Amino acid sequence: TTPRIAFDLKPTGQPLPEEERAAVLANPGFGRRFTDHMVTIRWSEGRGWHDAQLEPYAPLQIDPANMTLHYAQSVFEGLKAYRQADGGVAVFRPEENARRFRRSARRLAMPELPVETFVEAIDLLVRQDEAWVPGEGEQSLYLRPFMFATEVGLGVRPANEYLFMVIASPAGAYFPRGVHPVSVWLSEEYVRAAPGGTGEAKCAGNYAASLAAQAEAANHGCDQVVWLDAVERRWVEEMGGMNLYFVYGQEGPEGGGRENVRIVTPELTGTLLPGITRLSLLRIAEDLDYATEEVRLSTEDWRRGNEDGSITEVFACGTAAVITPVGEVKSARASWTVGDGGTGPITMRLRETLLAIQTGRAPDTHGWMHRI
Ligand code: COI
Repeated sequence: TTPRIAFDLKPTGQPLPEEERAAVLANPGFGRRFTDHMVTIRWSEGRGWHDAQLEPYAPLQIDPANMTLHYAQSVFEGLKAYRQADGGVAVFRPEENARRFRRSARRLAMPELPVETFVEAIDLLVRQDEAWVPGEGEQSLYLRPFMFATEVGLGVRPANEYLFMVIASPAGAYFPRGVHPVSVWLSEEYVRAAPGGTGEAKCAGNYAASLAAQAEAANHGCDQVVWLDAVERRWVEEMGGMNLYFVYGQEGPEGGGRENVRIVTPELTGTLLPGITRLSLLRIAEDLDYATEEVRLSTEDWRRGNEDGSITEVFACGTAAVITPVGEVKSARASWTVGDGGTGPITMRLRETLLAIQTGRAPDTHGWMHRI
């Protein structure tokens, strides 16, 4: 087993004054303001993980030949700490993020941070900056662990030095208009990930590569891009940085007739990002007595399903935006509406059930909440 790493605690003498922090928390937006502290841990060949610190949030100095700037060995995670109904704070499934972070690192030929160290870094930062965890509605403290190469040089090979960090940012709604159906563009020109590529890894480059397609979606009047598989450009994979779900059938009044409902999501083929919200919703759907299935679903299946009414709701899910309904679909050849183009009842029930667990308003029957 790995020896436990000792953190050097260097809290700031100048935290943001309380009234200024309150002003930030009153209208946090997403990823705009950061808390008073950050965690840093270094890794180097020979020494392994060392020099772990909790320190004041501050800019870094980067050498122009820093290898990350040139060759993009950079991976990250996203997870949230929520104010609980009893006033405490808990983080949603941090071990899952820690494990995915190790898999992402492995794919990018980077060192794998032990799960316990990842979780301890989160604990330390959230405990230190607890006052930054907002408590209104679905607000949260968004945590961004990340790691990148710090070696200086232009040789193309795995770097021999890395920096792991965690920063934190109070978060309101990810999409500024709130829960509002988005329109999507089916991208047939660009692809996000090919078999054998980095699609399963949460690496910075995947997000850079998505931006031109996102711009194309916007040029077609759509809010978000939907990715298809790289080989046939036929199978639906993801929406922007989120996983997709399709609801077949509908329930009767008062929640009866749930046996008529099937909730499906594209299966993890190696090119999809294995979302933790995606994983959690499979369980929550089962808890609510909906049938679930991981499938391959084509753009034709989607269009026909909406045309014949068998697909009643579509939504995207992720840590940042939780659940976002999809209302309109557009491609080079066709465009159609999902259901009545509004927000479906099953989408909202799943969203509310997940948020109730995350904010401690519903029992944590799966042991997902990690108390700070
Ligand atoms: C998420 O849905 O949490 C994402 O991955 C988006 C994030 C990169 C802002």
